[in-house]
Amino acid sequence: MSSTLSPRSALDAEAVKAAYRRWARVYDTVFGGVSGYGRKRAVAAVNGLPGERVLEVGVGTGLALPSYARHKRITGIDLSKDMLERAHQRVLKERLTNVDDLLEMDAEATSFEDNSFDIAVAMFVASVVPHPDRLLAELKRVVRPGGYILFVNHFLATGGVRLAIERAMASASHSLGWHPDFAIEALLPPEDLNRATRIPVPPLGLFTLVTLPHIKDSVG
Ligand SMILES: C[S@@+](CC[C@H](N)C(=O)[O-])C[C@H]1O[C@@H](n2cnc3c(N)ncnc32)[C@H](O)[C@@H]1O
Repeated sequence: MSSTLSPRSALDAEAVKAAYRRWARVYDTVFGGVSGYGRKRAVAAVNGLPGERVLEVGVGTGLALPSYARHKRITGIDLSKDMLERAHQRVLKERLTNVDDLLEMDAEATSFEDNSFDIAVAMFVASVVPHPDRLLAELKRVVRPGGYILFVNHFLATGGVRLAIERAMASASHSLGWHPDFAIEALLPPEDLNRATRIPVPPLGLFTLVTLPHIKDSVG
């Protein structure tokens, strides 16, 4: 991964766990609202795609879980025990019987067999994981050919005031727990960028929903 594409301040796994240990208690209140549109659009897209086996990567407090169609079978993974604990509570409280598993696992190196899922979705996660290229490679391994990989995320602006603000915010990555200066090219190589559909999501197109059809030869 070229250093010009990588965010300026990388978060390692321990930094992610520490950040989300702090955020877990207030996450839904602070982030739930602004990220709600993106989450709803991503889950609606998942619900409209063929296949039942869904992997939600970086499931966090489980804010998206109640919105999946009941015929979708969901496995959620996250690095943060504290975030997962909240997701567990939500599943119990809302009786989400289509959530099969919530597992403490690194999305860059999971223990799933090849082709275990029809769909993988990562909402507001790609700019948090230490190595987005490894995340993509792992999702291509565990999603069957013909399946889909979806991301909803904030990506670095390409110009204007927003670019300057996002660059300035980058030094706060460790306390924020995500990278304001995360470019889409740090996640998707050109061949995937060309095939993916990209839809801007409110508020103000700040987020983007990316749907990548997983073709047979797009491994790694
Ligand atoms: C911004 S939160 C998003 C949570 C949830 N997807 C949502 O929409 O609210 C990012 C989540 O990704 C998780 N995460 C970061 N790196 C991860 C990794 N390598 N493997 C699994 N989860 C990871 C964090 O622990 C955190 O719960």
